[in-house]
Formats: sequence, structure tokens, C-alpha cells
Amino acid sequence: MLGGTRFVGRHIVEECLRRGDDVTVLYRGRSPSPFAGISRHVLTDRRAPTIEAAAVLAEPWDAVIDTSARDVDDLRPVLPLLDGIGRYLFVSSCGVYRRTLGRHGLTERAPTIAADVSHPVRASATRKLRCERYLRRRLNRTDVPLLTARLGLVIGRYDDSERLAYWLERALRGGDVLVPMDDRQAIQLIDALDVARFLRDAIDRRRTGVVNVAGARTTAQTLVDTVLTSAGRAVAPCRVGEEFALAHRLQPWTEIPLWLPASSPELALMSVDNSRATDAGLTLRPLADSITDALGWQALRRSWSQRWLDHAREQDLIKRWRG
Ligand SMILES: NC(=O)c1ccc[n+]([C@@H]2O[C@H](COP(=O)([O-])OP(=O)(O)OC[C@H]3O[C@@H](n4cnc5c(N)ncnc54)[C@H](OP(=O)(O)O)[C@@H]3O)[C@@H](O)[C@H]2O)c1
Repeated sequence: MLGGTRFVGRHIVEECLRRGDDVTVLYRGRSPSPFAGISRHVLTDRRAPTIEAAAVLAEPWDAVIDTSARDVDDLRPVLPLLDGIGRYLFVSSCGVYRRTLGRHGLTERAPTIAADVSHPVRASATRKLRCERYLRRRLNRTDVPLLTARLGLVIGRYDDSERLAYWLERALRGGDVLVPMDDRQAIQLIDALDVARFLRDAIDRRRTGVVNVAGARTTAQTLVDTVLTSAGRAVAPCRVGEEFALAHRLQPWTEIPLWLPASSPELALMSVDNSRATDAGLTLRPLADSITDALGWQALRRSWSQRWLDHAREQDLIKRWRG
């Protein structure tokens, strides 16, 4: 396992361990591993593997699962050291697809983004796409089967991103909650448990190629209502609408996560076709179950990002909206 100690990778390692796999985790050790005493650990920066790490990488591996490569510079030092691996599973992102306003149902054959490492949003996707291409070229030469899993937005325990956390935290605080999204805004989230189960199965089933691992498509209304209800606090959603929210200079996605106005091309990423994965056995937990787990995790972290809508401003805006 190249990575594996934070969020998605951690779920994958847990799934492998549940199945009795012998797992080795290679990571830098910036945060403590939850698998100490359970798995073998190799502490190294993959960009400059230690001699010990190089020796471990050269062992015969049934499968290599890579959640930590974000750039080709993460792959160049590692690939030549791998010797006799059974297969390679690269965890990529649906962010590699080109966003086109009004485009629905992005399949694995949809056009990918034009390379742009200077763009704040596209840079990481550009690097991920370069990783995909590098791996395809390198592993083709040695006949190592490669599965590239393009993940949609993932939620669940251990999620330390600032996306769903805003809504979880807001629900846990209770009171009047400002909701800027259009009720029908598309939302597509996948539970990390579903991702982990599918990817582990994909190894046994010898899947190759590219597959979108994305959740069921739902609406912002369903998501917000599910979060607010599941938190069990006294809350009142105030659906101010996006015209009001934009007129008051609220920032979609950064200030209010998961909000994408109707004019945003990013909405294309909330409409990913996951049929290749579901045909191959991907099953999806009910949204309410995923939200309950995520709320349990958030209740332990209780974090509030500086970038998010300030509580006093939120209440002031709600007062104005009520007129
Ligand atoms: N979350 C989402 O919604 C989402 C959506 C689409 C795609 N993805 C993809 O999912 C993948 C998994 O992300 P995750 O953070 O949850 O995975 P993770 O495997 O749980 O955590 C990242 C791991 O990589 C290790 N790492 C990072 N840089 C390293 C380096 N230079 N050398 C060695 N180890 C290194 C980290 O440990 P140390 O820091 O201790 O080294 C950590 O163990 C990512 O590739 C991401 O692009 C996620």
C-alpha cells in the first residue's frame, strides 16, 4: 500500500485487513499510523526511497495499491524499484474530466482536461492525469495489469476535507441554517467504505482499465435534509436561493462547501456515470447511513474552518432574507 494512513487509503487498508490480507504500508509518517502493530510499516518519502524501502519495494507483491501518487515525481523513483508485482491499482480522481456546462453522465470515455498546472483547480487534476498516463506507458512495457480508479467525491469516517464537514458541523450546531443551493442542484458522493470494498474486490476479480468509482446521483435538498435530520438537533433550513446568496457575495464551494451555482461547469463532476463500476459489482450504502457515520466522526473532530461562512454573518443574512 503506497499511502494508506489518512482517509480513503485508510479505509482500503482496513478492508484488506478485514479480509486477512498481509498488508505493508509505505508512508512518510507525518501523522501516526492507525495500523501500528497490525501491519508492516515502511517509513520513507516515495520521492526519495531509503535503501530499506527500495529493498521492500523490490519484493514480490501480489498487488500494489497507490493512493499517494499526486504527481509523476511520486512515480518516477518508485516504478523502477518494483520487481515482479502482480498488478497495480492506481487511485485517481474524476477531477481529470473536462468540465462542460450542462454535460451529464461523464463516462470513462469522456474528454479529459487540457493540461494546466498554473490553474488553481486544474493543477492537481492535471498532475493526476499525468500519473495515469505515465503508469499506463510504464506498466504496459512490463505487462503488469493496471486498474485506474477515478474516484468521485468521497465521504465517511476519517474525512479531513472541508466539504461535507461544513454541513455536518452546521447541523451539529443547530439553529437557523442558511441554505443557498437550488433544491435540485446535483450532488454525487460516495462512501469510503463502498470505495474500499469495490477496490479490494477489483483486485480479486483482476479488473483492469479505467473505472469511475462514484456514488448515486442525488440532489442538494436531499443531502441537506438528510444531514440536518440525522444530526438530531433543532434546526431550521432557510432556503435563501442562489440569487440572494450570490447577490450577498457568498462564495460557492469555498465559503459554503458543496454549493455549485447553476452556472458552474463543475456541476459536470456531480454527474459521473458509474455504470461500469456498478456492473462490476460496486454497491452503494444508503445516503442516510453514510451521513450517520460521517456525523459520528465529525462529532469527535468538531472543527470549523476560517474559510467558512461566519456564524454571525449567516444569522444576519437570514434576518435580511426574512425581511
Ligand atoms: N477524498 C476525495 O473525495 C477524493 C476524491 C477523488 C480522488 N481522491 C483520491 O484519493 C486518494 C487517496 O487520498 P487519501 O489522502 O484519502 O489517501 P490515504 O492513503 O489515506 O492518505 C495519503 C497517504 O499518502 C502518504 N503520502 C503522501 N505523500 C507521500 C510521500 N511523498 N511519500 C510517502 N507517502 C506519502 C500519507 O502519509 P504521510 O503523510 O505520513 O506520508 C498517507 O499515508 C488521493 O490520491 C486522492 O486524489 C480522493
